[in-house]
Amino acid sequence: MPLVGTKEMFKKAYEGGYAIGAFNVNNMEIVQGITGAAAELNSPIILQCSAGARKYANSHYLVHLVKAALEINDIPIALHLDHGADFDICKSCIDDGFTSVMIDGSHYDFKENIELTKKVVEYAHAHGVVVEAELGKLAGIEDDVKVAAHEAAYTQPDEVQEFVEKTGVDSLAIAIGTSHGAFKFKPEQCTRNADGVLVPPELRFDILAEIEKRIPEFPIVLHGASSVIPKYVKIINDNGGKLAAAVGIPEDQLRKAAKSAVCKINIDSDLRLAMTAGIREHFMAHPEHFDPRQYVAPGRDYIKELVEHKIKDVLGSDGKAPEIMALINK
Ligand code: G3H
Ligand code: 13P
Ligand code: ZN
Repeated sequence: MPLVGTKEMFKKAYEGGYAIGAFNVNNMEIVQGITGAAAELNSPIILQCSAGARKYANSHYLVHLVKAALEINDIPIALHLDHGADFDICKSCIDDGFTSVMIDGSHYDFKENIELTKKVVEYAHAHGVVVEAELGKLAGIEDDVKVAAHEAAYTQPDEVQEFVEKTGVDSLAIAIGTSHGAFKFKPEQCTRNADGVLVPPELRFDILAEIEKRIPEFPIVLHGASSVIPKYVKIINDNGGKLAAAVGIPEDQLRKAAKSAVCKINIDSDLRLAMTAGIREHFMAHPEHFDPRQYVAPGRDYIKELVEHKIKDVLGSDGKAPEIMALINK
């Protein structure tokens, strides 16, 4: 089947109270690990490439790796540009065959963000491509010292309806307390649970609820949604790594988000941790190995294991491929 957009995915996800996993891809083994897991669970999936991924691997390699995955696995896959910084990169991805792009104008003021997003939407829609935009600034809570500044980083519910109407955008990334990377919170911002795991403050579900009220049935996107799974952090640290106090978003909060208007959940750091855990563990056990196939394969295996877990236990998108294909073929 060809690459698909996200319209049908989001419609079904919204109605069904689940979310589509958007996983960042940078090389063949990452694509294989993610799509292998999704195919086994008959789950729709979004594969997304950042500007850094395109620079590292070359956009053509990434597009063709994803197309190869589609030939092998019979599931709906969307190819998405993650954090497009300007019109040109969005245009370039659309011209390369991406089916979805993000224009990230969150660092501009409201009016400029609208203008830039609208320009991308016009080009994208004319080419059958859907667009994600961002409102609010995604940052670690540690950046917001004062309450006022802290509130300012979150998406303002009062702005979303005007933004969506004026831009014609297809989905909206919001800031409700998630942030990028494996160190989302400082230990002093967290409490410890019974297992000694650091638990950060809750996401702002109240803001999400307000946003849902202003733009009912509109698909919301959560960036910075890695959980920083302690198992992989421990394997890394037990095998020569040094990741002190890495903290992510607890999975029960992501499950709650997936049941709401959040239709797309972005995960990159967890993939990086899983891949690194597999490679480090292998090298510690086999210091004599030097064939990349021997040491990259365990990283790919951990990525597959991780994505299976996310699909089944967090996103709830397992078994949903047929209903999306049926809607696309209608
Ligand atoms: O949101 C950012 C993603 O994790 C991509 O990261 O720009 O290092 O590829 P990157
Ligand atoms: P994480 O760093 O939490 O994996 O977030 C990834 C992301 O938002 C990609 O756009
Ligand atoms: Zn992001």
